[in-house]
Amino acid sequence: MWNFNTNITEHNRQIMVNKSVEVAQIEKEWARRANARFDWEKLKDSYIVRQFKKITHIGIAAMKDESKLQRLNHVMSEMEEIYSGGKVCLSTGDCHALEPGLTRLLATSRDYDLLQEVWVKWREVTGKKMKNLYSEFVELINEAHRDGGYSDTAAAWKSKYESETFEQDIEDLFIQLGPLYKQLHAFVRRKLMSVYGKDKFPTSGHIPAHLFGNMWSQQWNSLLDLLQPYDKESVDVTPAMKEQNYTALKMFQVSDEFFQSLGMLKMPKAFWEHSMIEKPKGRQVQCHASAWNFYNKKDFRVKQCTDVTMSDLITVHHEMGHIEYYLMYKDKPIVFQNGANPGFHEAVGDVLALSVSTPKHLQKINLLKNVVDDKESDINFMLSMALDKIAFLPFGYLMDQWRWSVFSGETPPSQYNEKWWQLRCKYQGISPPVMRSEDDFDPGAKYHIPANTPYIRYFVSFIIQFQFHKALCKAANQTGPLHTCDIYRSKEAGKLLSDVLKLGSSKPWEYAMEKIVGSRKMDAAPVMEYFKPLIDWLVEQNSQDESIGWEDECPMPPTGHSTQLSARFCLIGILTFLTMVIF
Ligand SMILES: *[C@@H]1O[C@H](CO)[C@@H](O)[C@H](O)[C@H]1NC(C)=O
Ligand SMILES: [Zn+2]
Repeated sequence: MWNFNTNITEHNRQIMVNKSVEVAQIEKEWARRANARFDWEKLKDSYIVRQFKKITHIGIAAMKDESKLQRLNHVMSEMEEIYSGGKVCLSTGDCHALEPGLTRLLATSRDYDLLQEVWVKWREVTGKKMKNLYSEFVELINEAHRDGGYSDTAAAWKSKYESETFEQDIEDLFIQLGPLYKQLHAFVRRKLMSVYGKDKFPTSGHIPAHLFGNMWSQQWNSLLDLLQPYDKESVDVTPAMKEQNYTALKMFQVSDEFFQSLGMLKMPKAFWEHSMIEKPKGRQVQCHASAWNFYNKKDFRVKQCTDVTMSDLITVHHEMGHIEYYLMYKDKPIVFQNGANPGFHEAVGDVLALSVSTPKHLQKINLLKNVVDDKESDINFMLSMALDKIAFLPFGYLMDQWRWSVFSGETPPSQYNEKWWQLRCKYQGISPPVMRSEDDFDPGAKYHIPANTPYIRYFVSFIIQFQFHKALCKAANQTGPLHTCDIYRSKEAGKLLSDVLKLGSSKPWEYAMEKIVGSRKMDAAPVMEYFKPLIDWLVEQNSQDESIGWEDECPMPPTGHSTQLSARFCLIGILTFLTMVIF
């Protein structure tokens, strides 16, 4: 699997598909023996029962028909290959992969037509090419999970959260935070209108999806240069990193040092020897950043095509957070070598990054020079954080709304793209820049769809990381406003976090939650507390804007500029438990 992902060839794919069938056989055999030899559900010791539960829930390995399991694995690897091989040739003549080429272009270009070309063409070379594979995949994976005793794949995924009220809880959190997102959306829309012209925006209130500096409009940090309200030293330290000749290695060292400053575990030797932290030349690789556990207590690796930017520095912390979790629970029984829930696993590195991103900390590590402590700098900083953390919420919410509805059969293949855009328009308030049809398959242009990585974990993570941050800041005796807290060098904060990571999945996540934050529930209050000053400021900035929000329905794509394109468009895991990937 590692070999395939870092060296995509037909040969390596074949090996991987065969291996995953072997692994499935082993898992199936263990589960069979556990069920045959023990009446485990009747045992008294809940720790033992919990282990049995995990041994017998084996995911897609439960598929009874082996040739179908093989086919499922094959289909998944084909979709991944399409995605990772996606290359876009622009009308200017140059061709780019997603990383680093297209990502950089989207982040830095402010040319409306060029951005639109990139946006459209990426979807042509990825999603569109896998639409048929995806509907076959849905059939197959549902059958696998039904063989495992679930009603469909969505039910299997949700079961990881061990909560009857999970979906409702998620919805409640989303509703609570909706008003924050609306304020940010209105502010960004006004700025973008002044850059690109009002005529480019539909009257429904939506923002064209290609203008956010990000392929999926999921995080908007790259727009900071357009949006930063006060003229101060930018909190985006990318230029400083370049000036100081930062390398991928240096970025990983900075992150490792932060973990160690908290008294947490340092990255082991094998990590430095075997990780792939730069994009290699001369072979196709899956660039999407991920963290790997080889379950032998020694070998842990990150795979990342690191670019020297602040946003990648944050990603480095994110991935290293996964490794830290792996290291902390490596002595637990194998079935407990997992996150308390999937959201916990995604939150670890991000929690540290909340401290790393503060101007105070960036100054400590010499990436910012003139840090002033005033209201204006505060707003600049909080806006940059909101473009990451608040902008993400509806996207994090809707990805699996779409998949749950696909897996349950509510959305059939003939409505895949329509349903996708319904959700995108409704929740994110964005719209496709050109006409879309069922010939397109826009969900497939996002890594986690072909890679079949569940996504609600990121939404959960973006909520609970602020709960964790608040708890750790308290442990670190930080008394100022939440957004200024930096837990660097606090052994107390490190211990609080470590104690929870060491549990792995041996206890239900509510238990882990209580240990760290003192309550058993997910809670949006710390996010609100963190951003309160910014939200007040945004409300004031938006007070002249009568049209905050947007209509539920998607608008028709704008005419004029893009008629030519629109017209054209009208015509026409395996072992996923091994890896943890970035959003
Ligand atoms: C990539 O895989 C092929 C086998 O398909 C192998 O011959 C080649 O040496 C591998 N390249 C690297 C750099 O590992
Ligand atoms: Zn991750």
